[in-house]
Formats: sequence, C-alpha cells, structure tokens
Amino acid sequence: MADLTTTLFGITMPSPFILASGPLSYDATGLWEAYRAGAGGVTTKTLRLEHAINPTPHMVVPRSSNLRGTLFNTEKWADLPWQQWVEQELPAMQGHPGVLIASIGHTPAEGEVIAGPVAATGVVNAIECVAYTKDTIVGLVRTVRERTDLPILAKLTFNWGDDLYPAAEAALDAGADGFTAIDSIGPTLQIDIETGQPTIGGVGNKAWMSGAAIRPVAQAVVAELVARFGVPVIGTGGIIQAEDAVEMTMVGATALGVCTAPLLRGLEWFGKTHAKLSAWLDAHGYARLSEVRGAALPHLHAVEDTQPLVFAFDPMKCTKCDLCVVLCPYDARTMAGDRPKSPDLKQILDEQRCRYCGLCVEVCKPAALTYGNWPR
Ligand SMILES: Cc1cc2nc3c(=O)[nH]c(=O)nc-3n(C[C@H](O)[C@H](O)[C@H](O)COP(=O)(O)O)c2cc1C
Ligand code: SF4
Ligand code: SF4
Repeated sequence: MADLTTTLFGITMPSPFILASGPLSYDATGLWEAYRAGAGGVTTKTLRLEHAINPTPHMVVPRSSNLRGTLFNTEKWADLPWQQWVEQELPAMQGHPGVLIASIGHTPAEGEVIAGPVAATGVVNAIECVAYTKDTIVGLVRTVRERTDLPILAKLTFNWGDDLYPAAEAALDAGADGFTAIDSIGPTLQIDIETGQPTIGGVGNKAWMSGAAIRPVAQAVVAELVARFGVPVIGTGGIIQAEDAVEMTMVGATALGVCTAPLLRGLEWFGKTHAKLSAWLDAHGYARLSEVRGAALPHLHAVEDTQPLVFAFDPMKCTKCDLCVVLCPYDARTMAGDRPKSPDLKQILDEQRCRYCGLCVEVCKPAALTYGNWPR
C-alpha cells in the first residue's frame, strides 16, 4: 500500500487528513474520536472570548441534487468557553498521536487573552488564526506570535477576494508559518421552493457553503499560495473522495483539511478514504503521496495560450449521440454518416465558425472526439 505519511511543521502523521475546525471538533471527545477514526491531525473549534450561541437549524444540505457533497451552515465558533478548553479539553489531549491545532479567533484583543494560556497547555502543536477581515487576521497573527513560538497557520477565506494574497503576505510578515485555505464561502441563500421559506436559521438566513462546490476555488487558492510563498498549506475545502485528495495534493497542499466529508459521511470516512487514496496511488504507480505533491504546479501556464486546437476523431468509438454537434454554441460542427461505431462516420469542422472553446470534446462521453494538441 502506498505510503501516506505526511509531515507538517516537523511532525510526521500517518495520514494527510486533518479534521478541520467545525462541529466534529466541539471538544476533546470529538478530537479523540477523529484520531481513532484515522485522522492524522485535528483542529479545535475556534476559541473566542464569548462562547457561541448558534441559530437553529444551522446545518442544511442543498435542496438541488446538482450540489451533492455540499453543505450550508450558519454555525459560529466554539460553544464551550475558552477557559474550559484550556483547563479541561486541551489537557485531555495529552498523548495524542498527531498534529493538534488550536483555532483562535477572531480579533487581536481575543488572541491577546487566549493564545498564551492555550500555548501553556503544552499539548498543542500549532495555532490557527481565524478572522473575518483581512486586517484583523494580520493583527491577530502578530498578537499570537508575540505570545508563543508555536507554528502559526493563518486561515484564509476566499471572501476577501483580491485582498486574499496581500493579506496572506502580511500574515507571513506578522509571523505566520503557513496557511489553512480555505474557510467556507458566502454568504449564500437557499430557499425551499415548496414553501418559499429559507432552509437555514440565522439573520437573513444567509449561510456559508462548504464541501464539494468549493473545492475548485480552494485548489486555485492553494496553488497560488504555494507558488507565491512556498510555505506549508493545509488544503481545505471540498475534499470528499480519494481523487479529490490527490488533486488537492497535486496543487501543492502539504496536508488535507476536511470538515464536510466526515460530517456527511460519518467519521469512518477517514479510514475508508485513507485506504482508497492509498489504492489509487498504488494503481497509478506511486509509492507515496509525496510523489504527487505539487505535480501540477509546473504545468500551470504563465501566459495566455490562444493557438487553435487540433481535434482527433475515432469513428469506432463514436456512438453518434450528436451532442458535439447540437451543443456547439457556434454551429461549427457537423457529422456525416449514420452508423454508430463505424468507419462511415466523419466529423466536419467549420474553422471559420469554430472558436476552439472545447465544449464538443468535453461532452463526448466515449472520448471519440479528443485533442491532438492539448494539454500542452
Ligand atoms: C458547520 C461548520 C462549522 C464550521 N466552523 C468553523 C469554525 O468554528 N472555525 C473555522 O475556522 N472554520 C469553521 N468551519 C470551516 C471549516 O473548517 C472548513 O474550512 C470549510 O468547511 C471547508 O472545508 P470542507 O469543505 O472540508 O468542509 C466550519 C465549517 C462547517 C461546515
Ligand atoms: S471547439 Fe467549440 S466552437 Fe469549435 S466545434 Fe467544438 S464546441 Fe464548437
Ligand atoms: S459527442 Fe462524441 S460520441 Fe457523440 S456524436 Fe460527437 S463524437 Fe460521436
């Protein structure tokens, strides 16, 4: 079986999967259960000065079947007092087998009070700083840095838009050692069309979205962070199956944060996905996960490429479904011949009309229509 051991801040974990801050990390019992299920590391729920009181309900699944593996939430930070974490929950983690990350939010004033006592428990391996704004994350990191030598992860959110990367750079300058990217995305709004009612509790019923729908966004952020800064990144967002873990690792993630997958699939998700990831690597000739880490980064294009695509057509694979013809937005494609999977079939491309968008190849399920010069 391929080796999945993963090293983060000098600590080697048997698994790359880290339980991200969320409902399953509500207290020490939750963290231990995640370890027992196979997590390599765990992150506490976010500690703040005031414990959270959450709206009800605060976790709902999408009503649309097009958004499977996605979750909406209006859950806040830890609903246990931070003092309880310091006095009971963190000490109960003594002897834990992986990387224990304490999540602290959301302002410098809170970091000033909470960071020292959390670090003094001696059981935490890293501190994750979480904030709602790009300015507070930098101040929070600086405040925590002044109070501990532990590695600091700045948790980044795509909600900051173009300010994300300057904020990331400023967080590093303030003393962060790496990033967790990304937090859930929002605000979003879902309505039950049978009742016209919102599906989730909270002011305005606006929710944060996590899971499958956000993974491509998370991967874009992770790739950019790794390329720009070269520091450890816990790639977090939408890892639901083993192949997702491969993809997130290929864009450079050092370790893999997961919240929604074990929430929706149960804690046994950790063990099952570990086995499937190992099997995928075996089947593709890799001895260890580290061999695919960052593998995609050298292929990302630094300049725009507009050269025409060259198409290849295999008539023996073509089912004559006509999707490539019907769905071409520019009416550039026609076909000759009627008999599926026969040499009679011919593709005719009007090069004056074709914009080389690629949709025809994408919709061809049997891969009868392919590219001759892509990827390049
Ligand atoms: C119900 C719920 C509660 C969450 N609570 C926190 C939190 O307290 N602190 C935090 O930093 N992130 C929190 N998150 C965000 C997750 O840690 C994670 O960044 C995000 O969900 C993306 O990962 P995923 O797609 O694997 O869920 C929460 C996510 C969910 C779904
Ligand atoms: S590449 Fe785009 S424009 Fe050209 S034939 Fe295919 S779908 Fe039509
Ligand atoms: S989409 Fe593919 S299978 Fe369908 S007609 Fe076009 S080439 Fe043939």
